[in-house]
Amino acid sequence: MQKILVTGGTGYIGSHTVVELQNAGFEVIIIDNLSNSSAEVADGIARITGKRPIFEKLDCCDYEGLKNLFAKHAGISAVIHFAASKAVGESVQKPLLYYRNNLVSLVNLLELMPKFGVENFVFSSSCTVYGQPDELPVTEQAPRKPAESPYGNTKQICEDIVNDTVKSGSNIKGILLRYFNPIGAHPSAEIGELPLGVPQNLIPFVTQTAAGIRPKLSVFGSDYNTPDGSCVRDYINVVDLAKAHVIAVKRLVENKNKKPVEVFNLGTGRGLSVLEIVKTFEKVTGVKLNYEVVGSRAGDIEKVWANPDFANKELGWKAAETIEDTLASAWKWQQKIS
Ligand code: WQD
Repeated sequence: MQKILVTGGTGYIGSHTVVELQNAGFEVIIIDNLSNSSAEVADGIARITGKRPIFEKLDCCDYEGLKNLFAKHAGISAVIHFAASKAVGESVQKPLLYYRNNLVSLVNLLELMPKFGVENFVFSSSCTVYGQPDELPVTEQAPRKPAESPYGNTKQICEDIVNDTVKSGSNIKGILLRYFNPIGAHPSAEIGELPLGVPQNLIPFVTQTAAGIRPKLSVFGSDYNTPDGSCVRDYINVVDLAKAHVIAVKRLVENKNKKPVEVFNLGTGRGLSVLEIVKTFEKVTGVKLNYEVVGSRAGDIEKVWANPDFANKELGWKAAETIEDTLASAWKWQQKIS
């Protein structure tokens, strides 16, 4: 059984990916420093798949600890690297924390992998590298724009680190997956998004407002150049996203990649506004959302959605879940944890 190392595997996207890896017959080793997740997530994964992944509490910035991990678990076929700090707003307040955590963890992995014969690397990137694209929908060929936040900048720098490492002759093969806006939860409601403190992202704030945990949702901005004035994003179901990671790992393990580093947009190709999300959530759940339209949020881009054709064709992957089912899964999860 091939072993996959998943860093940040008790996190939101990581945990959903571990489920799909196990469903696909892989053995999974999770490392996570639990700075933004809890070890109990591994139990939730086990309740879904019937198999508890190996879990080791470890910070990828700990070079010696990571080296011991690779020595302890010989024969890892691929690494999927999720572990990173990811709150846009926090990154503006604490840039050095973001540069240290997101860059040092990646450098450690890329240094250690070849020493233990591990060649295959899937990196969790983000559409944030595009900034506000000049053309929509956005393809992988779109130019990267100066990042709007230290978080976004770390994603750009990490992509460069992977490319430069591979160009230097390292035998690493990489796939960079640029996510759009991951939302929703596993249909079992055994795992889902667990934001610590006040949610930064839209959907957890919506479900917490619906659950009465937050008194009101603020809709940031109503005078954007969009159909209803609110921002447009490409919201992708987290399970659809997780399945793309399994395909990417298989592509590398089976040497089917066509370039040493490949880049794929993982989106639905459908743009939805914040107000459309609010209305759809109310329709799907029957819950009236208390919201107020307020001023725009610093750093937000106006509108972005993917052209997913390359991933659809080249990976044979397509986002399948409807926005209705996805929002329903987020609500089912919120009701479970409230
Ligand atoms: C979506 C829309 C907000 C909260 C960022 C990163 C991306 C990824 C996801 C990590 C925006 C609006 C939000 C609220 C609102 N990061 N909103 N009220 O900023 O598109 O993407 O998070 O994985 O890489 O860039 O996501 O969910 O924060 O915001 O109106 O209370 O919802 O203004 O238009 P974003 P988001």
